[in-house]
Amino acid sequence: MQIRLPYCFGGVLAALLGLVSVAQAEIRQTSVWWLPRNVNMFGHEIDFIFYVILWLTGVTAVAVFSAMIYFLVKYRARPGVPAIHSHGNNTLEVIWTTIPVFIFLALAIYGNEQWTQMRLRTPPADALPVAVVGEQYGWNVRYPGPDGKLAKMVAAKIGKENPFGVDPADPDGLDDFTTYNDLVFPVNRPVRLYLSSKDVIHAFYVPEFRLYQDMVPGRVYDFVWLKAEATGNFQLACNQLCGQGHYKMFGKLAVVEEAAYESWAKSKAPVPTATWPKSNLETATIVKK
Ligand code: CUA
Repeated sequence: MQIRLPYCFGGVLAALLGLVSVAQAEIRQTSVWWLPRNVNMFGHEIDFIFYVILWLTGVTAVAVFSAMIYFLVKYRARPGVPAIHSHGNNTLEVIWTTIPVFIFLALAIYGNEQWTQMRLRTPPADALPVAVVGEQYGWNVRYPGPDGKLAKMVAAKIGKENPFGVDPADPDGLDDFTTYNDLVFPVNRPVRLYLSSKDVIHAFYVPEFRLYQDMVPGRVYDFVWLKAEATGNFQLACNQLCGQGHYKMFGKLAVVEEAAYESWAKSKAPVPTATWPKSNLETATIVKK
């Protein structure tokens, strides 16, 4: 049987578009055609520069296309009308070169300054440290216990059995607790992320935080931080094509009041790891005898 290629291609394309629209509807119910609301302290500046660039380029596009259409009509070929030969205008050239130079410089300086604030400034000392390690296809999350400290992560130690690359005897880590695809952040408190990956490149992406950071295996990114300014439920989506299951790699992220965070953390608290390996060891010794 002969399948006609255009029909075949059209069918595949229609199926793909159908899938895409279903996926989008599931992810975002509100503001589907525009930016999702911003809930991160840094988001205001990002949105500001986005709108500045949108207006600059929008106004320029309208002006350029209007002039083009006007000239196309005005100087169209007509019988008996000779063509005009223009050799340029130096004043105009200087003006439309100088103005964009200053605009681009201003954008670059402003953008650089905001980037410095977001990524190069030391995160506040009272920030809640949270480790997030991506894997095919999900998020390993590690929270500090009552001591407020996470075990030290060593990128080279991250592996199948040790997703956070920690030393099991690290005193800072004995009260840490972990979750899978489940994140809770306290509102109005800085959160310092420790990001890494177990296998391939993933990306930490929460549109409402205006936050996107690649996670490359072999590295621990400890300079990304945020401060949520409103409570709500969000989705941590992976934003690097990381394999066949990429589309389903998302975690639940809730921003809640500090008290609600504290009680959630308490409910997740581990059986103190300092006791169970020891008792296990003792049992092992007894069995040996
Ligand atoms: Cu992980 Cu896409």
